[in-house]
Amino acid sequence: MDSSKVKVVTCIAPVNIAVIKYWGKSDENLIIPINDSLSGTLSMDFMCAKTTIIASPELQENTFWLNGKEQSFNNKRLTNCLQEVKRLASKSLPHLNWKFSIKSENNFPTAAGLASSAAGYACLVSALAKLYEIEDNVSFIARMGSGSACRSMYGGWVLWCKGSSPDGRDSIAKQIAPASHWPEMRVLILVVNDERKKYSSTDAMKRSVETSELLKYRANQIVPKMTKACIEAIQKKDFEIFAEITMKESNSIHAICQDTYPPCVYLNDTSHTVANAVHAYNEFKSSNKVAYTYDAGPNAVLYLLDSSVDEFMSVINYLFPPQDTAEYYKGLPLSSNQLSQDLKMALNIPVQEPGCLKYIIHTKIGEGPKILTDPQQHLL
Ligand code: DP6
Repeated sequence: MDSSKVKVVTCIAPVNIAVIKYWGKSDENLIIPINDSLSGTLSMDFMCAKTTIIASPELQENTFWLNGKEQSFNNKRLTNCLQEVKRLASKSLPHLNWKFSIKSENNFPTAAGLASSAAGYACLVSALAKLYEIEDNVSFIARMGSGSACRSMYGGWVLWCKGSSPDGRDSIAKQIAPASHWPEMRVLILVVNDERKKYSSTDAMKRSVETSELLKYRANQIVPKMTKACIEAIQKKDFEIFAEITMKESNSIHAICQDTYPPCVYLNDTSHTVANAVHAYNEFKSSNKVAYTYDAGPNAVLYLLDSSVDEFMSVINYLFPPQDTAEYYKGLPLSSNQLSQDLKMALNIPVQEPGCLKYIIHTKIGEGPKILTDPQQHLL
């Protein structure tokens, strides 16, 4: 390939974990949500998607590889994103109509059921925006790939406003506070062993919209109040309120999932035991020190401050005896403290069979997508 005629862009993008959940669309094709949602963006040091795009007039056709497998371009979400990016690009760009090769990878196991499509689409759209020299907020384009992806377009704490325009142009994400605002915040992801076949969040939320009366009440009455209160709690760094809202919000979408007909059940016994342990611990401490939240799967994501990590990890290690410790802990360092006798008594929860948890990721709030300029970092 003639290198003067090649454009290469590589980008990394983060995972985000919602504290106010997106659940339900008013437009399936454009991916417009029925409620606002709010999330923390996780550090890319331990979890991120990476995408390289090469564009060249010498390429004969577009190709797309995701985690080592070739993907078809015959995918509505992908073509919607490409079309929108090209529509915003200047028509005078010489490479606008060059064919391209895209290669995308996640640095964390997709099988774990962690929000990989959010990071993936945020990464793809950020790389395309760079390729076509677009400076505007393109979160509405990432949204067309996967709703929650629009929140991965920013670091820190991010609000996705549902918007009111029928074309979804104002259904965009905005940062409400940068990662540096609450530097003590930590996230523990407890990856739960689970053999059950999952219903995708896309299908499940569609079924909730069609069948759950409670969903309308949630979207119109509960979420607006909770969102406002949660933004205030983040701005004031009030962990007590933040934690209560986060847990109630997670319980609310899983209640909606139960109210969906037929129900879509994502939580298993391990998920419930983690939630019980969080409540027992908070009660022991006489204030909220840990908050759980669950997406469309059994994995528990815990928000907590760095001062609580060691003690709460002693609770988790006691209740869920780790099997193989070499690969068990990932991310930021974790120390192995002994659980105090008082706390053990207060928990009053039986020790679980070893192997209920696959592994634990310890991470923090981090930055938004980043363009990598070092050619060594390209995937292609
Ligand atoms: C439970 O963004 O994966 O994680 O827009 O259909 O691709 P689509 O759905 P997706 O749904 C995420 C749902 C959730 C809650 C959240 O992240 O807000």
